[in-house]
This record gives sequence, C-alpha cells and structure tokens, in this order.
Amino acid sequence: MDWGMQSRMARLIPPETGKAFFLAIDHGYFLGPTRNLERPGETVADLTAIADALFVTRGVLRAAIPAESTPNVILRISGGPSVIGPALENEQLLVTPEEAIRLDAAAVGISVFVGTEHETSTLKNLATAVNEYERYGIPVMAVTAVGKELEKRDSRYLALASRIAAELGARVVKTYYTEDFDKITSTCPVPVVIAGGPKTDDALEVLTFVRDGIDKGAAGVNLGRNIWQHYNPVGMALALRAVIHDNADPIDALDLVGPPPVEG
Ligand code: 5RP
Repeated sequence: MDWGMQSRMARLIPPETGKAFFLAIDHGYFLGPTRNLERPGETVADLTAIADALFVTRGVLRAAIPAESTPNVILRISGGPSVIGPALENEQLLVTPEEAIRLDAAAVGISVFVGTEHETSTLKNLATAVNEYERYGIPVMAVTAVGKELEKRDSRYLALASRIAAELGARVVKTYYTEDFDKITSTCPVPVVIAGGPKTDDALEVLTFVRDGIDKGAAGVNLGRNIWQHYNPVGMALALRAVIHDNADPIDALDLVGPPPVEG
C-alpha cells in the first residue's frame, strides 16, 4: 500500500484502536431536507470533533462545514435519483478525483444496489471509482444499499453484497447490522462498518447493536439519524465513541446520554 493510501486509511481507522466512528450526514442527496439536518452545519458543529470522519456530499461540505473544524471527510460520490423518483437504485458516479483532492477527502463513498435491476451499473460505478481514486491513493468505501427493499437486510444478502464490493476493490464496506453479523465480517476481506438504519428512540438499543457488531468483527460504525435525531446528539456521540474506541459496555456508556428532556 502506498504512503498516501496508508495515511488516509489511518485517518479513517485510527491505528490506536483499529476502530472507526463515521458520522453520516449525506442523507440529503436523495432525501432532501431530513429532520434535524435542515441546517447541517449547526447539526454537526459539536459532533465533528467526536467522530473520526464525516460522510458528506460536496455541496454540504462547501456550504456548511467550516474547513477550520478539520473533520476527516468521506465524500459521497454517487447519486442522481431522489426518493420520489422511479428508481432510487439508478445511481451514477458524480464526483471526480480532482474534486475529492480539492476537498482534501480522506476517502470517498459510493452506493451499490446488488440484486436490483441496476446492480451491474452500480457495481460498474464502484469498479470505475476504484480505478480512478486508487490512482491518487484515495480509498473507496462501498455502501451496500437496499433502496426501499428494507427486507433485504439479512446476513445472507448482506454478506454477498459486502463480499462483491470488496472483490471489486472497496477498501471499506458499510452494511447493515444483523444479529449474525459475524457471517458478514468473516467472509469480507476488508473492514466492515455498521450502517444505522431508521432512528430508534432507545439509545441502549443502538449502543447494544454496535457493541454486538464490533464483538462480531465490525470495524466500527457509519451512523447518522440515531445520533443527530436523538434528544442528546453529543451524549449519543460520546457514548458511541466509548463503545467503539474504549471497548465500553453499552450500559456504562448510557450514562453519557442522560435522561430525556422533561416535557412541558
Ligand atoms: C444513506 C447513507 C447513510 O450514510 C447511512 O444510511 C447512515 O445513516 P443512518 O444511520 O441515518 O441510516 O448512506 O444512503
């Protein structure tokens, strides 16, 4: 591995713990103004220092994230369809390596939709991204997206999609948590991070699935809504950091979240 690639991978997955905490705020690229992400700069102002990297589009990065806050950036490079369009899976490769270099990206992220009508084109996008970005020492993170077919989130499907993404050259794979997460990590030759899925109000549930996923081989998380839609985003981020980097027990980490605000 060349020096630039090694250096970027170490920014993403700090060697001190070998684990990673990615904060995802890329949702607007297909969902528009998601709740609590209406003003993304305000949402993440107190969070970027807690996470290892920010998964973000170039538009939000330029418009809303101060460069002085120096987050490690995972730049989303795929997109095109919106949630109200006919085919969410029909993503294209939208960002050039020159742009990623201009934005000092530590990595880029791209979705693949295995098992859909658009699997070949999205896997081709991934392969093209690997060809183009590896040339500059920039790692590609593949997101095993399921579009609207949420029932696909079982380990058999996710292991298949994750393995294909790694075979095509992804340096990191982001996929959904399952109770048998070891079936995914044990057959994927690159680090696997856990994606969040829809928000739950139960902080312990999130901390527990993250603990379990890491114990079953996950390299960390790429979470969004379960942090910035929580009543205490900073507490939630600190608790996750404790579980990911300090090997904390979820019950102990829960102390960092605190009780919900009193209504009325
Ligand atoms: C959207 C994404 C998100 O980064 C990913 O789903 C994580 O966010 P959340 O925890 O809110 O699900 O890739 O396509």
